[in-house]
Amino acid sequence: MKNAVAGVRAFAAEDEFTAFAVEFGTPFQQFFDDVRAFGDQGSNGVRIAKSVAGHKRVLFVKGDFIVVGKRGGDASLRVFGGRLVERVLGKDQHLSGGGKRDGGAKTGDSGPDHEVVTNNAVRRSAHNPMVQTKRNMPSYVVTTGTQRYECRIERGILSRVAEFLPAKAGKVFIVTTRDVWKLHGSGMTFPHEVVFFPGGEPNKRLSVLEAMAGVMLAKGADRSSVIIAFGGGIVGDVGGFLAAIFMRGIPVIQVPTTLLAQVDAAIGGKTGVNLVGGKNLIGAFHQPLAVLIDPSVLETLPEREYRSGLFEVVKYGIIASPKLFRLLADDSARVLALDPEAVDFIVGDSVRIKAEVVSADEKEGGVRRILNYGHTLGHALEAETSYSRMLHGEAVAYGMNAAAYLAERLGLLAKADAEEMRRVTALYGPWPAVGDLSPEALTAHTLKDKKTIQGTTHFVLAEGVGTVRVVSGIAASDVTAAAAAAL
Ligand SMILES: NC(=O)c1ccc[n+]([C@@H]2O[C@H](COP(=O)([O-])OP(=O)(O)OC[C@H]3O[C@@H](n4cnc5c(N)ncnc54)[C@H](O)[C@@H]3O)[C@@H](O)[C@H]2O)c1
Ligand SMILES: [Zn+2]
Repeated sequence: MKNAVAGVRAFAAEDEFTAFAVEFGTPFQQFFDDVRAFGDQGSNGVRIAKSVAGHKRVLFVKGDFIVVGKRGGDASLRVFGGRLVERVLGKDQHLSGGGKRDGGAKTGDSGPDHEVVTNNAVRRSAHNPMVQTKRNMPSYVVTTGTQRYECRIERGILSRVAEFLPAKAGKVFIVTTRDVWKLHGSGMTFPHEVVFFPGGEPNKRLSVLEAMAGVMLAKGADRSSVIIAFGGGIVGDVGGFLAAIFMRGIPVIQVPTTLLAQVDAAIGGKTGVNLVGGKNLIGAFHQPLAVLIDPSVLETLPEREYRSGLFEVVKYGIIASPKLFRLLADDSARVLALDPEAVDFIVGDSVRIKAEVVSADEKEGGVRRILNYGHTLGHALEAETSYSRMLHGEAVAYGMNAAAYLAERLGLLAKADAEEMRRVTALYGPWPAVGDLSPEALTAHTLKDKKTIQGTTHFVLAEGVGTVRVVSGIAASDVTAAAAAAL
């Protein structure tokens, strides 16, 4: 074994096997030996998948992924605490029998923690013969109690969406907005119908959904139809929810086109619409068949939308990836200029984290709450400004700044770390002024947050980059002081 490096690196060199493992006191060598034993068994996908699924720690096998599950308390939080270890193995340590290991795996241990092993070299030759870039374009698997699906990041994937349709799919309905369709619709070259969503948060309503369902029916939709949700987070939520309830549920493929949707909204199966009384109050969990992400579509995104999405990426850096955070801190010029290598990395690493968290906790009972970093005050800010002044990510930027002040104030986070976090958010500003808002009103609002459980606001706070924890029972005066400092 060569190059045992602490920290996280996303992609292997072309002819090497890279394994990511999370150390919970499991000897890594033992883990790797298990994986290699699996690889050595031959090339019958089903037989191998079964035997691996029967292995005591294997959660499931799909394509080039081997996900190993474990049970255990709050260990899942530590997955995201910067304890990932990377090992790069030389050519003589390749897995053998590469590329034919898909299909038929059953769920074994369904504990909350998992380890993901990817073999980029095998995937490139066996599954991605048409990859358009020299770089390794990664793919991450989400697994929930009932489903598993791929989140694939690949330039040019729009032209290959049809490959992800079920074998017996009926008519395909692309739910999209006119702007996205005009810019990128020509990439969808397979037979389809288009159902336009008028766009915008005020249209994210049941009445609009009903009208869209009527259009689908008129165009011949039935139970075998499939929806492709092609657009930003709003289209993803609306298209996903339409799929969840049309004829009691048809499949959806998410093809997100904003940064926010690519790194967040499209992954995890949350779908829904707004009520007058609040955002996303009617909805359903409806996991997609696949999430297909083409980072090149971001080049047409309005700059402010892109920067707003970057704050969610900063969030992933803070909660789970020191390497991602460093790139955002040191290379903001490349990130802001949409340098393809930088964009592919920030999208890929964010998707990896979201896929891991959702897999560990589909319905937000535990570890998924760490995704709310910066969101408690962020949601309060959005609501206090009637969802009209700031984009979601901009509100989260304030929320993350407030969280850094709060963690510092409570003695959880060193001053220098808190300052660095605030410096990085500022690199991706500016954001709308909120000096007119009252910190007390924001604090009061956090108590009304949908995520509030029995009157206690849970704050996700950082102890350093890559290490967060959920803290409850924080005094309102501390929250107000942090909000005042961030405004
Ligand atoms: N389901 C979830 O887990 C989840 C998570 C986060 C946010 N959301 C939801 O996502 C929504 C916000 O999504 P958003 O920020 O993507 O906003 P959005 O969907 O409104 O998209 C922003 C704008 O960019 C346009 N656009 C999209 N892709 C483009 C492209 N490639 N080039 C040019 N223009 C493009 C859209 O038409 C729109 O005008 C909210 O409704 C929020 O509730 C859902
Ligand atoms: Zn968010």
